[in-house]
Amino acid sequence: MAALYLIANWKMNPDSLGEARKLALTVEKGISKFKNRKNIQIILCPPFPHLSIVKSQLSIVALGAQNCHFENLGAFTGEVSASMLKDIGCEYIIVGHSERRAMGEDDTIINRKIRAILKNKISPVLAVGEKTRESFNVHGRWTGEPDRAIREQIRVALNGISAANAKRLIIAYEPVWAIGTGNAAGADDVFSVRLFIQKILRELYSPAVQKSIPIIYGGSTSSKNIASFVRDAHMDGALVGGASLNAEEFIKMGEALKSLK
Ligand code: PGA
Repeated sequence: MAALYLIANWKMNPDSLGEARKLALTVEKGISKFKNRKNIQIILCPPFPHLSIVKSQLSIVALGAQNCHFENLGAFTGEVSASMLKDIGCEYIIVGHSERRAMGEDDTIINRKIRAILKNKISPVLAVGEKTRESFNVHGRWTGEPDRAIREQIRVALNGISAANAKRLIIAYEPVWAIGTGNAAGADDVFSVRLFIQKILRELYSPAVQKSIPIIYGGSTSSKNIASFVRDAHMDGALVGGASLNAEEFIKMGEALKSLK
């Protein structure tokens, strides 16, 4: 596992193959200038139709997908399987993103998807997080909602996942209220959640397995705040939405991480 992860979630962007190609190439070129980049794994997760063209631009940067189905083949109109994504060169698949949960994807489906992803020897990036900021009290400390939500999301998603397979996992803590709002969570709160996630993982696996699972932060990250999540909240990197569509900004985020390693 790399020391730090910087994962771009392009969501349903950009709107043409040409733009996707250009964005991927600019990021690849920018990242290839880093000297000590071995400690940082940069991953681009474009929409399905852009995967091949993006892949053709990458060598140092890795390819990921934003979703998959839990079966490998069959009568599932409109779906894409983890085995197809493996074949195209995806090494990572985001699963359980709140924008997918909002469309009805529940923890049991997420568990089935994680099993399919692992069966195809791909690393799942499991996104978890509480929905509202009301879960924080007037002092900005969390009350209990995140505990319940995150515990349930992780326990059900990892139900029946062996220790050997769990080592492939990355967990992304993404408070839903912080996604795309410009209101990133505070580093102290993120650090508290990190410790909480580690505790849940230790209930499920040995300390060695828990330590091998990177925990990253997502939600309104930028080149200005990314360092604080790593330095002050001790996170293992970031899952980036909006800022990842701007190549210059995304490369700056990589540089900020590089300077910490
Ligand atoms: P954001 O999105 O960086 O635009 O807040 C993060 C995500 O949805 O993964």
